Amino acid sequence: MLIIGTEMKKLAVVGLVLLPFVLASCGGANQMAGLPLVEFSTEDFTGSGNCAACHVDLEDQIGNYVSISNHWRSTMMANAAKDPFWQAKVASEVERNPHLKEVIEEKCASCHMPMAYTQAEVRDVSAMIFDSGLTNPSNPLNPAAMDGVSCTLCHQIVDPVLGEYTVDTSTEPPDRLIYGPYENPEQSLMIAASKFTPVYGEHVTDSVLCGTCH
Ligand code: HEC
Ligand code: HEC
Ligand code: HEC
Ligand code: HEC
Repeated sequence: MLIIGTEMKKLAVVGLVLLPFVLASCGGANQMAGLPLVEFSTEDFTGSGNCAACHVDLEDQIGNYVSISNHWRSTMMANAAKDPFWQAKVASEVERNPHLKEVIEEKCASCHMPMAYTQAEVRDVSAMIFDSGLTNPSNPLNPAAMDGVSCTLCHQIVDPVLGEYTVDTSTEPPDRLIYGPYENPEQSLMIAASKFTPVYGEHVTDSVLCGTCH
């Protein structure tokens, strides 16, 4: 990639602004225990590690630890694809209905590996799970699959309806919108660092967002 002058300056500014966060996260090393979160990028999604770069090691006014990325990483949703019970259940369904292998695997991937599933649909490639599928480290969408129900999936859902989530895959970076609960967020930092734009979305505070999968 060609980095031109102004891009360089933007990166340097972001670097300086991020320095306190980086130093703070070193200080809170015990809260950061575990493998680093993934940092892949696809056309429409990015790894939780790229969001955690900023949304980590936060405390409220009275010192409660409210770090979004650290709280998320231990949830069932962060582990929805790694979950060995889930993988075993998909495998047993396929074993009992071998003629429906593709239908079953792609259906199960749609909620347990939603970023990879959505990206596979856009690329018009298979979203099957086993063999050379999404659980295989050599599959290009493997990092997106294993990040489970992640930041850029939930925060990009538009017009939620029960039983079905929709992500707007027509936008290009940095116009991909990340919906949040607050009005008028400061946008420039996040645009520069992640090529996603934070905006207010009323639907983020509605339980139907969760009902798209639950
Ligand atoms: C529409 C979204 C959706 C689809 C499609 C889906 N799941 Fe799930 N799955 C969920 C949700 C949501 C939960 C969590 C439910 C709860 O605990 O309330 C879940 C939980 C599970 C669990 C329990 C995991 C655990 O460790 O407790 C298993 C097993 C599972 N799903 C298997 C499957 C299989 C097999 C398929 C494909 C046939 C599938 N799922 C397809 C949304 C989905
Ligand atoms: C299962 C869906 C889901 C996932 C996954 C998710 N979020 Fe959220 N997030 C929400 C919802 C819903 C809210 C709004 C909560 C509220 O209204 O208080 C929110 C709020 C936020 C906010 C607003 C700040 C705040 O403290 O309320 C930020 C920033 C944020 N999320 C970042 C992230 C990051 C970074 C990740 C990944 C590490 C992530 N989210 C993963 C659903 C999700
Ligand atoms: C360079 C640091 C940085 C990175 C990287 C970053 N953010 Fe943000 N994010 C911010 C800042 C700054 C705000 C605005 C805070 C404010 O206005 O008070 C914000 C706001 C948000 C909000 C709230 C928006 C609202 O209006 O409620 C969400 C949700 C969010 N970010 C999610 C993400 C996700 C998902 C990623 C990964 C793609 C990400 N952020 C990456 C710095 C960052
Ligand atoms: C893209 C699909 C999707 C969305 C959207 C989603 N979830 Fe989930 N959720 C899942 C799946 C899949 C699981 C089960 C993971 C597993 O056990 O393997 C799950 C599991 C959970 C669990 C654990 C249930 C248990 O039995 O332990 C909770 C709690 C949860 N989700 C809450 C939420 C909330 C709250 C929201 C909305 C802010 C939400 N989910 C949105 C897919 C989703």
